[in-house]
Amino acid sequence: MAHIIDGKAVAAQVTEKVTEAADALRASTGVQPGLAVVIVGEDPASKVYVANKGRTARACGFLSVEHTLPEDTDQAALLGLIEELNTDPAIHGILVQLPLPAQIDAGAVIQAIAPEKDVDGFHFINVGKLSTGETETAFVPCTPAGSMVLLQTVMERDLSGRNAVVIGRSNIVGKPMFNLLLAANATVTVAHSRTADLPALCRTADIVVAAVGRPQMVKGDWIRPGATVIDVGMNRIPAPERGEGKTRLVGDVDFEAAEKVAAAITPVPGGVGPMTIAMLMANACVAAHRAAG
Ligand code: GUN
Repeated sequence: MAHIIDGKAVAAQVTEKVTEAADALRASTGVQPGLAVVIVGEDPASKVYVANKGRTARACGFLSVEHTLPEDTDQAALLGLIEELNTDPAIHGILVQLPLPAQIDAGAVIQAIAPEKDVDGFHFINVGKLSTGETETAFVPCTPAGSMVLLQTVMERDLSGRNAVVIGRSNIVGKPMFNLLLAANATVTVAHSRTADLPALCRTADIVVAAVGRPQMVKGDWIRPGATVIDVGMNRIPAPERGEGKTRLVGDVDFEAAEKVAAAITPVPGGVGPMTIAMLMANACVAAHRAAG
């Protein structure tokens, strides 16, 4: 049976380190890391994520500011708020929760965030730095950054000679994950909905990263014995066994089957999920350090 990678425990270690670093920064410079999270509308999942981000930021000793804007907010109003936050010296990190309502151009909003406060790592400057190997100064998107940390708990930092398959080509996970694995010397293939014979491709992988948003799509017999599986999926499916109308959270991997084959695997929940917030805190703390000089 596979080793189950405990994302909750690793995330707690990361936030503890961030808390210490924030304390030290405040003691030496008087600067308290400040994180602003902006949410537009009432999407229930987004509201839960945003509340968790605020709670964790306060637990790390940060100033945590939450801006909740109505669903019908127009682009100009949101850009106005971003501009205020860009110039606010108490704020070091800005996160605009995605998705945004249809009347707002999410791309324009992301590019309006000052790159040095872009703790999501979505601005072209940070994307460009990551893809050109400037990993020391780039802000790396939190979910792939956290996935790498979990991978490093069970594998060497240098992935020379290893084959990695990333399933999913999103800007938030798949593409940055490709760049991080490549920077670690892995041989990386990015698979997606148009890939031919995905099961066969997966079977060549020493590392499988599943980030497609399809519940339990990756089957046990797609996994090469001894592979490491990082499951980024967070899908709610009906769970009638828990009672009428109940749901449960599952990943993109058929966990029960995959854990019998893999050497190591992240569970859902309790794997990559907790790491995303922990890495956001780490990014915000780095942004504050840089601002403090
Ligand atoms: N929505 C889902 N994941 C993310 C993320 O990593 N950052 C932001 N801003 N929104 C998201």
